[in-house]
Amino acid sequence: MDDKQRVGLEAAKQVQDGMVVGLGTGSTATHFVREVARRIRDEKLSIRCVSSSFACSLLARAEGIPLLSVDQVARLDLYVDGADEVAPDKGLIKGRGAAMVGEKLLAEGCDRFLVIVDGGKLVNKLGLKFPVPVEVLPEAVQLAGRGIAALGGKTALRMASGGKDGPVVTDHGNLILDATFANDAKGGAGPDWKALDAALDGLPGVVGHGLFLRYAPKSTVLVGEGGGVRVIA
Ligand code: 5RP
Repeated sequence: MDDKQRVGLEAAKQVQDGMVVGLGTGSTATHFVREVARRIRDEKLSIRCVSSSFACSLLARAEGIPLLSVDQVARLDLYVDGADEVAPDKGLIKGRGAAMVGEKLLAEGCDRFLVIVDGGKLVNKLGLKFPVPVEVLPEAVQLAGRGIAALGGKTALRMASGGKDGPVVTDHGNLILDATFANDAKGGAGPDWKALDAALDGLPGVVGHGLFLRYAPKSTVLVGEGGGVRVIA
C-alpha cells in the first residue's frame, strides 16, 4: 500500500452514518472514494455524497455511490480531498486536476475539511513547486492575464495533452491560466498570498482559483509518510 492509499483509507474511517460527505478529485481522493463505496456496500453505511468534479462523479457512479448536487444540500459534514501543496499554516494550492472551482464550493460548505496528502506535498511556503491555477472565462483570457500580470504573476495557458488539441477546458467550460509569482526559494517572504487570494477573486473574468487559504481553521491534514499517517490538526 502506498502513502496515497494509506491516507485515503484512513480518511474513510472518519465517515459515519447520516453524514453528508464531499468527495474530492485526484489520485489520492480516488482511494478515499473507493473505500467509501466499499463501506457502503459491505457495512451498509448510510450517507449522502456530493461530488467535486465531473471526474469524481464518473468514479462515484462507477462505484455505485449515489450523488446529490451541491445545491441540494445546505451543509456538508465532511469534505475529503487532496492538494498539490500544503503550507505549515494549512494553506493549500489545489487545481492540478483543473477542478478547483467545484472543489472550493465543497470547501466553503463543509463543517470539516480533511486534506489527504503524501509527504511530498508539504512545503515551507506556497508556490515553490506548483503554480496557482486560475479559471477564467474563455473570452476573458487576455483581460484576466493582464490582471494577473498587474498582480506580479506570469501566466501560461494550460494546454491539454493526449486526447485533445488546444487548451484544457474545465468542467464549467472555462480555461486555466497557471500563474507563478516571484518567490525566493532560499528564504524571503515570497508573495503576500492572503492579499493575492482576495485580489484574484476580484479580477474581472476570473471564475475562481486554486489558493485555498481561508479554510485552514476547519482543516485537518492527514499526511501519509514513512509507512504511517501523521495528523496536522
Ligand atoms: C484536483 C486537485 C487534487 O486534489 C490535487 O491535484 C491532488 O491530486 P493528487 O491526489 O492526484 O496528487 O486539486 O483539482
